[in-house]
Amino acid sequence: MSISSVPSADDSDSTPSITHANKIADKAVKQVAKKVSQKKPLPKVLPHHSEEIDVQAMPQVLGRLTKLAVRYPWHCVFAILAALGAAVFNLLMPLLLGHAVDQAGHLLVNAKLGADVVRNALLTTGALIVLVCAVRGILTGLQGYLGETLAQKVGYDLRMAFYEKLQRLSFSYHDKIHTGDLIARGMLDLEGVRAFLEFGVLRVITLTLLLGVGSWRLLSIDVTLGLLALSFVPFVAWNAARTGLRLRVSWQRLQKMMSEMTLNMEENLQGVRVVRAFTSRLHEMAKFDKISDIALRLSNQRITERMGNMSAMVLAYYTSMALVLWVGGQRVANGSLTVGSLTEFLTFITILQLPLRQIGMIVNASARATGSGARLFEVLDTDPEIKDAPSAHDLKIDQGLLRFESVSFAYGNGPNDRTVLKDISFEVKKGDVLGIVGAPGSGKSTLAHLIPRFYEVSSGRITIDGQDVRSLTLSSLRSAVSLVQQENFLFDTSVHNNVAYSEPQAGEERVIEAASVAQIHEHVEQLPKGYTTRVGERGVALSGGQRQRMTIARGLLDQPSILVLDDSTAAIDPATEQRVRAALQSSLQNTATIIIAHRLSSLKHADQIIVLDEGRIVERGSHAELSAAGGRYAELWSLQNRGAQEGLTGSTVSAAINNNNVEFAS
Ligand SMILES: Nc1ncnc2c1ncn2[C@@H]1O[C@H](COP(=O)(O)OP(=O)(O)OP(=O)(O)O)[C@@H](O)[C@H]1O
Ligand SMILES: [Mg+2]
Repeated sequence: MSISSVPSADDSDSTPSITHANKIADKAVKQVAKKVSQKKPLPKVLPHHSEEIDVQAMPQVLGRLTKLAVRYPWHCVFAILAALGAAVFNLLMPLLLGHAVDQAGHLLVNAKLGADVVRNALLTTGALIVLVCAVRGILTGLQGYLGETLAQKVGYDLRMAFYEKLQRLSFSYHDKIHTGDLIARGMLDLEGVRAFLEFGVLRVITLTLLLGVGSWRLLSIDVTLGLLALSFVPFVAWNAARTGLRLRVSWQRLQKMMSEMTLNMEENLQGVRVVRAFTSRLHEMAKFDKISDIALRLSNQRITERMGNMSAMVLAYYTSMALVLWVGGQRVANGSLTVGSLTEFLTFITILQLPLRQIGMIVNASARATGSGARLFEVLDTDPEIKDAPSAHDLKIDQGLLRFESVSFAYGNGPNDRTVLKDISFEVKKGDVLGIVGAPGSGKSTLAHLIPRFYEVSSGRITIDGQDVRSLTLSSLRSAVSLVQQENFLFDTSVHNNVAYSEPQAGEERVIEAASVAQIHEHVEQLPKGYTTRVGERGVALSGGQRQRMTIARGLLDQPSILVLDDSTAAIDPATEQRVRAALQSSLQNTATIIIAHRLSSLKHADQIIVLDEGRIVERGSHAELSAAGGRYAELWSLQNRGAQEGLTGSTVSAAINNNNVEFAS
C-alpha cells in the first residue's frame, strides 16, 4: 500500500468513518515500519572501538580535566586524604578479623590457662573492629561527599565557560555546527566529564592502594596461597576493563540513535503543521520506527554484555575463594597456617572484589570523559572569528552616515565558496531611507548581516561616520545598529520582556511607544493580560503579522542610529504596513533606515532604492527614477501593480514572482 493512498487519520475524531480510517492507517504504519526496519545485524562492538574511542587522546584530555580540579587544591587534598584513609582502614579489616579468629581459637584451646587475659584481648579486638568499621564508613562517606562536590564545582565552571563561549562564537561557527550538537555538548558531555572527576580519579587511588598493600601482605604470609587468592584479580580486572570499553562504545552508538530520535521528534513537532497538511504520518512513523528499533537492539546487546560479564566475574571470584579454602584448609589441618590467617585471606578477597569490579566503571568513565572532554574543549578552544580588535574603540555617532565601500563577501574562504556580494557601494545617512530589492538569494539578508558585523567582509569596508566597523567594539556597534531579522524569533516570555529585550530595565512608556510605532499596541491591549501575556514557545500564540510587528517594536526600543528591516513587513497587510511606515517616518528622524522588501509598495517612499541581482547592484535611484528607467525595477513594479489591480495582494504577487524568479531572470 502506498503511503499517499492511505486515508488521513490525523484529526482524531470519534466519528465512525474516522475511527475506521484510523484502523487502516495504524495497520499501514505497522506494514511500512516493518518494511523499513528490515533487521540488519548490528555491527560488532570490538575491535572497531578505536574508531569511536580515541585512546591516544586519553592522557592529554584526562590530564587537562584533572588540572581543572586542581584549581581547588584544598578540596582535592582532603578528598585524596579521605580516599587513602578509607583504603587503609579497609585494609585493617582482614588483619583484625584474622587476629580475632586466632584469639578465639586460643580461648577455645586454653580455656583454663589465663582465659580472662585472652577474653579481654578478644574483646579489645572486637572493639577495634567496630571502631575501624566506623572510621572506614565515615571516611568513605567523606570521600564521596568531597569527590562529588569537587566534580560539581568543576562542572559548574565548565558549564559557565561553555555558555559564555557560545555567546561569543561567530555566526560562521554556528552555521557549521548543529544546534542540537552544541546542546548535547553543554549537557551530556559535561555530565560525562563530571562523572569521571567524581568516580574515576579517587577510585583509581583507592584501588591501587588496596591492591598494592593487600597483595604484599598476602604474599608475605604464604606465597602459594597468596597467588591463589589473587588469581581472580587479573581475570576480573581484564574482563571489567574490556566490558567497560565495550559498554562505552555501544553506549555511544545508542546515544547517537537517541539524538537522531530527538532530532526526528523535534523536527516532527516543529513541522507538525506540515506533517499534518501532507498527511505524512505513515512516513514519519516509519522513519522513527527504524531508529527506535536499532536503539532497542543496542540496549539488548548492552544488557547481554553486562550480565555475561557479571556472571564471569562472580564465577572467577568464587573459584578463587574455593581454591584458597581447599589449599588453606589443608594447611590449617597440618598446622602450617592458622585459622586466623586463612580468615584474613578470605576477607581480603571479599574486600578486593568490589573495587576490582569497579575497574569497568573507571575505564568506562575515562573513555566517556575522553570523548566528552575533547568535544567540550573543542568549543572552549575555538577563538571567535569576530571579536574586538586589540585597539577597538566605541562607536561615536555624529552624522549617522553608513557607507558600504566596494564590499564583497563570501561565506567561506575555500575555492568553492561563491562570492555572495560583489563590489557593493552605497551610503545612507541619518533620517534617510534606503530600500533594497532583489530576487531570493540575491544577497539582501547577507548584506544586512554585515552591518552589525555578524560576518566579516571579504574585501572593501563598511564605515559608520568614517569609522570602519572592524575598528569598533562589538557592543557599541551592535547597540547602535538594530537589525529586525527576516526570520523573526520571540522568546517564550511576556510581550513586555520581548519588546524590552535589548534593555530589560526599560520602563512601560518606552515599550508602549515602540509597540505603538510598530502598530501592535492596540492588539497587545486586547490580550488577556496585556503586556504581561506570555507569547508561547517561539511566539506561537501570535499570528505571523503580529510576530513581525513585535520584532519591529523590539528593534525600535532603544532608538537605534541604524535600523535594518529585513523583509519585516512581508506578513503585514498593506494597510497596516502603511501605518507602520508613517509612524516610522516620524519617529526615526535620527535614524538611517534600510528596508529590504519584496513588496515594492513598501519602498516607494524610500530616498534611494538599490536593486540587487546575484550579489551585484544592477540599478539604483528613487522610485520615480527607477520606474521611468524601464529596467527590472519598472518591470517588477508593473507586474505587482497589475496583480493588485486584478485583486491579488502585493504579497501574493511577490510570492508568486519570487517563486518563479520571474522579475530578475536575465
Ligand atoms: N549562512 C550561510 N552560509 C552559506 N551560504 C549562505 C548562508 N546564508 C545565505 N547563504 C547563501 O547566500 C546567498 C544569499 O542569501 P541571502 O539570505 O542573503 O539572500 P536574500 O536575498 O536575503 O534572499 P531572500 O529574499 O530569500 O531572503 C544564497 O545563495 C544563500 O544560499
Ligand atoms: Mg533574506
